[in-house]
Amino acid sequence: MLGAQWGDEGKGKATDLLGGSVDYVVRYQGGNNAGHTVVVGDQKYALHLLPSGILSPGCTPVIGNGVVVDPSVLLSELSGLNERGVDTSKLLISGNAHIITSYNVTVDKVSERFLGKRKIGTTGRGIGPTYADKINRVGIRVQDLYDESILTQKVEAALDVKNQMLTKFYNRRAIAVEQVVEELLGYADKLAPYVADTVLVLNQALEQDKVVLFEGGQGTLLDIDHGTYPFVTSSNPTAGGACTGAGVGPTKISRVIGILKAYTTRVGAGPFPTELFDEDGEALRRIGGERGVTTGRDRRCGWFDAVIARYATRVNGLTDFFLTKLDVLTGWEQIPVCVAYEIDGKRVEELPYSQSDFHHAKPVYEMLPGWSEDISKAKSFSDLPKNAQAYVKALEEMSGAPISAIGVGPGRDETIEINSFL
Ligand code: IMP
Repeated sequence: MLGAQWGDEGKGKATDLLGGSVDYVVRYQGGNNAGHTVVVGDQKYALHLLPSGILSPGCTPVIGNGVVVDPSVLLSELSGLNERGVDTSKLLISGNAHIITSYNVTVDKVSERFLGKRKIGTTGRGIGPTYADKINRVGIRVQDLYDESILTQKVEAALDVKNQMLTKFYNRRAIAVEQVVEELLGYADKLAPYVADTVLVLNQALEQDKVVLFEGGQGTLLDIDHGTYPFVTSSNPTAGGACTGAGVGPTKISRVIGILKAYTTRVGAGPFPTELFDEDGEALRRIGGERGVTTGRDRRCGWFDAVIARYATRVNGLTDFFLTKLDVLTGWEQIPVCVAYEIDGKRVEELPYSQSDFHHAKPVYEMLPGWSEDISKAKSFSDLPKNAQAYVKALEEMSGAPISAIGVGPGRDETIEINSFL
């Protein structure tokens, strides 16, 4: 299950909904740059790093090898949940997951500041520098916390270069190896009960026909390979990322569910053809509560973009969509939907591969009739007003995969299930 747009599609609700009927929920990439809001009864939970399955008692939540873990965030998220009576003892963390060290949080912030108006608008959580260390083979992994001598050598190797950069280039103070090692060792015992060979655990579970749900953070258009590079995150939220980020072969994945908001949002910088700068955008932001769970930043809002949805279907091999937040669109007389782009005077049906073309893309809108009835109590597709049904059907046709569930409100039960996901 993954985001089909720029993240914040409502994946937390969707995965949580399935959490009760699956055995494992696995995060396979990203870190605490993600933010899921899950509403259970009258309780609201904001999760950043933990898989949403943590709120379903029968489910084992797993942080896979492809995730980057900030131990201080993880431990405070766990203790926050424990204080509210949530049992977190089943959590498993891959020993191969990389750790977001405090120096990488520093590097993320200073490098963004240095970029000035060219900045990416990162969440400032150290995500990019940690993945860069991983690829440069100077990263620190969870398993390193259990071998002090290896840990010290690795931190030394990483800081050798980073301190040069921090002091000479960014004009910051050097970071002491001992201080970092001491901080990291301080997490070792607290994390130890959770650390596991998650690749083995998950593959054994699949052999026993257990249901495993892979939960992508961010969204397709924020993917480092398939997104709007360079305005992307530093990992692969797209479906292939589930294989590498959890150590499970592609033949084991039977359904790929794209979470699709009934309109579009984005945080951070980068192109966004259907972005609205008028009162409609303001209304979507207000009604949809479009403010980042992680950063508290207002999200940029715009109409639904079918070109992006089609692209998401293609690069992920989507089998289904979960359409979220349809209720937010209640009250518009007509709802514009972007069906194609106009680029330099030409109509383009598919997402252009060229970054400059995408920056120039202007949306071509089709107007769909709106509805004014409250849809939050709808339990089946036929409960929806005719125009809402037609809106969903039009999106389905344009997007290239069946819409199997529709969110009509934030609560767990405010969902219309059309086809079962399991
Ligand atoms: P980073 O992941 O912190 O490096 O940020 C890179 C880009 O991804 C920025 O535009 C962020 O706003 C965006 N981003 C990261 N995580 C999320 C998310 O969970 N939802 C939406 N946007 C995100």
